[in-house]
Amino acid sequence: MIRGPAPTLTVLAPAELAGTALALDAAETQLTGLYRHPVRPGRGYLRAGMVSTLDGAATGIDGSSRSINNAADLRVFRVLRAAADGVLVGARTARGERYRSIQVPPGLRAGRAARGQSEVPTLVVVTRTGALPDALLEAENGVLALVPRGSDAESTLTARWGTGRVIAVGERDVDLAAGLTALADRGLRRVLSEGGPELLGQLFAAGLVDEWCLTWSPLVVGGDAVRTIAAGAFLDPPRTAHLAHLLLADGVLLGRWLLES
Ligand SMILES: NC(=O)c1ccc[n+]([C@@H]2O[C@H](COP(=O)([O-])OP(=O)(O)OC[C@H]3O[C@@H](n4cnc5c(N)ncnc54)[C@H](OP(=O)(O)O)[C@@H]3O)[C@@H](O)[C@H]2O)c1
Repeated sequence: MIRGPAPTLTVLAPAELAGTALALDAAETQLTGLYRHPVRPGRGYLRAGMVSTLDGAATGIDGSSRSINNAADLRVFRVLRAAADGVLVGARTARGERYRSIQVPPGLRAGRAARGQSEVPTLVVVTRTGALPDALLEAENGVLALVPRGSDAESTLTARWGTGRVIAVGERDVDLAAGLTALADRGLRRVLSEGGPELLGQLFAAGLVDEWCLTWSPLVVGGDAVRTIAAGAFLDPPRTAHLAHLLLADGVLLGRWLLES
């Protein structure tokens, strides 16, 4: 539930930065520095971004993240998008949260240009069915799809867009590792996954998540909401993460965690 102006964020960790106040500025220079998106050889560097309630829910009573997010999270969300070459999302999230091609606020565009990035990141939707919102189907550019070979999605989206925007990897399911390599080959080396929980569960299960930016909203929703990761089985062994930084604003905690490889 995004209400009010973007708040000042205060650094809680690491200790050497603790107490630093990150007031809003159009270019978000300090926040962009804290959320620099690394590059790595091979398949590129995958950062996940999610918001959770205190009881671990990925949605509120409305069945979406809209009822659990907040103005502090939106501030970081925009910086994460502005740092990415590509934004990866599962088709159910794209449908449910009415995705459009990605926009970057004007103040954050100079930073992208300085890093040699295109004006806006490319949205990449993972889908078997090809059932995408009209706004994405109608987008002239800036939207790609990762689909299984021979799937309904491949035929539907190729008929609509031509072959250039449809990347077919894997048989029944998209092979996500191969998909990330294919994106890197197209210059999308800094990839932000915005979920949802099903896609993120698969990315974790395949060992593809390099870091997780997770916001805890100070809300408890109960109910039967899905957790931020929907993985069929326990990750065995569990993945260990190291805290890069932790921010606070109005009871909202925003963490950046680096996963051990
Ligand atoms: N709290 C948060 O930060 C956050 C973030 C994102 C989403 N959400 C919420 O999470 C819910 C949606 O998440 P979800 O977990 O149900 O779904 P999801 O991960 O967003 O999308 C699942 C869909 O992605 C496609 N897909 C996933 N893996 C695939 C693979 N390996 N190969 C081919 N296609 C694949 C399929 O699309 P097709 O059905 O088209 O085949 C599948 O139905 C919504 O309620 C949303 O509001 C919360």
